[in-house]
Amino acid sequence: SVYADEQTASIEVAKRISSLMLSKQEKGEQAVLGLATGATPVKVYKELIRLHKEEGLSFSNVVTFNLDEYYPMKPGSNQSYVRFMNENLFDHIDIKRENINIPDGELKREDIEDFCLKYEQKISSFGGIDLQVLGIGRTGHIGFNEPGSAPNSGTRLVTLDELTRRDASRDFGGVANVPTKAITMGIGTIFKAKEIILMAWNEKKASIVKKAVEGELSADVPATYLQLSPHVEFILDQDAASSL
Ligand code: GLP
Repeated sequence: SVYADEQTASIEVAKRISSLMLSKQEKGEQAVLGLATGATPVKVYKELIRLHKEEGLSFSNVVTFNLDEYYPMKPGSNQSYVRFMNENLFDHIDIKRENINIPDGELKREDIEDFCLKYEQKISSFGGIDLQVLGIGRTGHIGFNEPGSAPNSGTRLVTLDELTRRDASRDFGGVANVPTKAITMGIGTIFKAKEIILMAWNEKKASIVKKAVEGELSADVPATYLQLSPHVEFILDQDAASSL
């Protein structure tokens, strides 16, 4: 669906998330959310915070799994996704800390494989992700699944694309400071979600959105794999949709 602007679209996504939370609450169940970082979801999180503060929306039955984290990365660093999530959402709502899951950027190299396996198992133990929100990188990555990622890939350590590192360089004060690796849920992990929403705003995303939606299925643009899933919805603003 295409919305007039980022604000309107973000409010719609927040509404979808809150309806899911409420319907789960009524059934006495937990809502399992897959969350993304980057600029794209910021207004969605703002709206969720507003719903919590002004309309009493409770996150006490919510479990979250974040898509990815740079590697290596200390959780307290300015650029860590742990810090991003705390500042942009978790510090402002009533989620239980033990219900928050984010890939660990501080693991020893030899422990990563085991951590990734357990991350997958933990998602499954909650019955899978009910709703996964995604942004899209200019390489066509979702999470940090860069070009070349397999459609059945699981949570794993990946090497970041040069374009991704350049796009991140502003946050890190220079491309040399951007980690070369990340831990990310796989395409296969994302695909298991019962519902997936990919969000994109801004004309900077128009050409990659066009490739993702209309382009031939290809490992060169991992987001094209989303065409295979009947549970995916693209929520765009007019600018991101302008090349479709
Ligand atoms: C980062 C994140 C992705 C995100 C993408 C787009 O690389 N790992 O999950 O979707 O960048 O970022 P932005 O929303 O800032 O455009």
